[in-house]
Amino acid sequence: MSSIEHVLEETRTFHPTADFVEHAHIQSREEYDEMYKHSINDPDGFWGDAAENFHWFKKWDTVLNKDAAPFYTWFEGGKTNLCYNCVDRHLTTWRKNKAALIWEGEPGDTRTLTYQELHRQVCKCANALKSLGVKMGDCVTLYMPMVPELAIAMLACARIGAPHSIIFGGFSANAIVDRVHDADSKFIITADGGYRRGSVVPLKATVDEALEKCPGVEKVLVLKRADNAVEMKEGRDIWWHDAVDAASADCPAEELDSEHPLFILYTSGSTGKPKGILHTTAGYMVGAALTSKYVFDLRDEDTYWCTADIGWVTGHSYIVYGILANGATSVMYEGAPNHPDPGRFWDIVEKYKVNVFYTAPTAIRAFAKWGDEHPKSRDLSSLRLLGTVGEPINPEAWMWYRDVIGGGRCPIVDTWWQTETGSILITTLPGAMATKPGSAGLPFFGIQPQIVSEEGEPEDGMHSGLLVIKEPWPSMLRTLYGDDERYKEVYFSKFAEQGWYLTGDGAFRDKDGYFMIIGRLDDVINVSGHRLGTMEIESALVSHELVVEAAVVGFPHEIKGQGICAFVSVPADITPTDDDMGVLRNHVAKEIGAIAKPDQIRFTEALPKTRSGKIMRRLLRDIAAGRETTGDTTTLEDFSVMAKLREENEA
Ligand code: PRX
Repeated sequence: MSSIEHVLEETRTFHPTADFVEHAHIQSREEYDEMYKHSINDPDGFWGDAAENFHWFKKWDTVLNKDAAPFYTWFEGGKTNLCYNCVDRHLTTWRKNKAALIWEGEPGDTRTLTYQELHRQVCKCANALKSLGVKMGDCVTLYMPMVPELAIAMLACARIGAPHSIIFGGFSANAIVDRVHDADSKFIITADGGYRRGSVVPLKATVDEALEKCPGVEKVLVLKRADNAVEMKEGRDIWWHDAVDAASADCPAEELDSEHPLFILYTSGSTGKPKGILHTTAGYMVGAALTSKYVFDLRDEDTYWCTADIGWVTGHSYIVYGILANGATSVMYEGAPNHPDPGRFWDIVEKYKVNVFYTAPTAIRAFAKWGDEHPKSRDLSSLRLLGTVGEPINPEAWMWYRDVIGGGRCPIVDTWWQTETGSILITTLPGAMATKPGSAGLPFFGIQPQIVSEEGEPEDGMHSGLLVIKEPWPSMLRTLYGDDERYKEVYFSKFAEQGWYLTGDGAFRDKDGYFMIIGRLDDVINVSGHRLGTMEIESALVSHELVVEAAVVGFPHEIKGQGICAFVSVPADITPTDDDMGVLRNHVAKEIGAIAKPDQIRFTEALPKTRSGKIMRRLLRDIAAGRETTGDTTTLEDFSVMAKLREENEA
């Protein structure tokens, strides 16, 4: 368990101000305790009550059905529609003309969509999709920039019961090929390009490249965003402005079963193939919306901004679905945080008087490095609550966030969750409890986290160990798309007897019961809050002729949290040059996306292996981090390999 030893004892605690508490949804620890107890003692009652706040075409028969565990179902027998609950429901209230989305493009263009206008656009898009042949149950792939049409397209898919699969716009053509094949997707929505750091990312060209290997794709809907030249393939490619503008704005929301598939989102696992996390309609809706309300303490007058890209789960749950389901105003920004200068985010906060701001530790560390003058020269007094997500936040970055961005007055919610969990599982509730730098906090309602030993012994009190979740919750993944066996294997096989969900994270529970997440325990690296499987990067490297074998490990990185270090062995007759490093780095970027580019490539003669041939990554991690090897090396097959590696890396 040495890899999850907890070292830091954080003693600072910060309480919300009286003013914050006074207006908060949940105002005291006692109130939280009471609600939490109810949610655990009577989950059906608790979640049933929560679900009553939504529109149902038909009410459910059972809240939770565990008969086919770990294939749980929620709100069985019910019929609802998430798009209806995010949009239509607000049209009969005063929110009809409230801003749903406030968008800013990187070049500075802006758009505001009221709920009514959003409804119009979503209906037109939904009808356009139908006219292209999209039917209920068909998977639609979205590969788009951060523009309002991305949210519109998601909602349109949800409206007609066509699950979407969003691929982050930074991924490569190969990543599209794998995902399109895995989801058997015949429809793609993309754009000519999107803006990033002043240049145009040619999305359509990347889709074209991918589709050479995806003959099954029938239609591609193309939004004109950046006006860059694109090729339109006759019969396959259709302009958004032709199809959507011509479509009728009348499109009733489909009455969908509670467990109707809502979306697939691919994420990295410890093997090479990305996992298609499947979320379904009603449980996800209830989880994403209830956490949005309580964790971000959403009020009708709030302007809420989550800086994530919608290509990641954070954007799904906390830019679009959970936020709009509460009738709140969500800000969306297209581009880079430092374009045209490192004050861009703070310009946006000042301009739209943002009240709630949600970002990632990697961004916070970058802002701190860019200098206090950028936030300090903007008026950030509208902010009342800050959030972070994606990876452990180091206490220094947390304090900087609190002091420089939050002016010492805003609570910080450090929200722990995963693509698989659909919504936030561990956090503080901002008006109800104190926060501690670097600590996520307490379980959300209905969530039962437990620290356990490798053998499955529950470790109560102050302890570190594996983090499991003991009981199902509404917004959990339902399976890995098309691979029920792998779903059981990855999440429920280690503690099959107990039926616990394995998070893959290590955590420490402190004397107050707060959970501090230590990080991944499997072969997954968390780069800038994004999960990358070491195997994926290794396969990409090995596909290059220069590489015989590759082992990829993470190492501590000042800004990104973890950096990627690749140990690469080359054919004996080749002496690699510095240029080869660049070649391999670019090769990985091409295979997966720029986000997976190794920070370091270390050429080596051989990799350290156990006698059974397994690469001993633990040792490589020590070398990459510049540490002495402390762990057990008795299973190492050839000691000279390690000596050599050290020599090579000291040279
Ligand atoms: O290791 C945990 C880390 O990110 C992983 C989930 O990654 P992903 O599915 O891409 O979702 C990211 C956004 C929800 C987790 O297993 N992680 C996420 N949030 C935190 C975190 N680690 C520490 N603290 C957090 N607040």
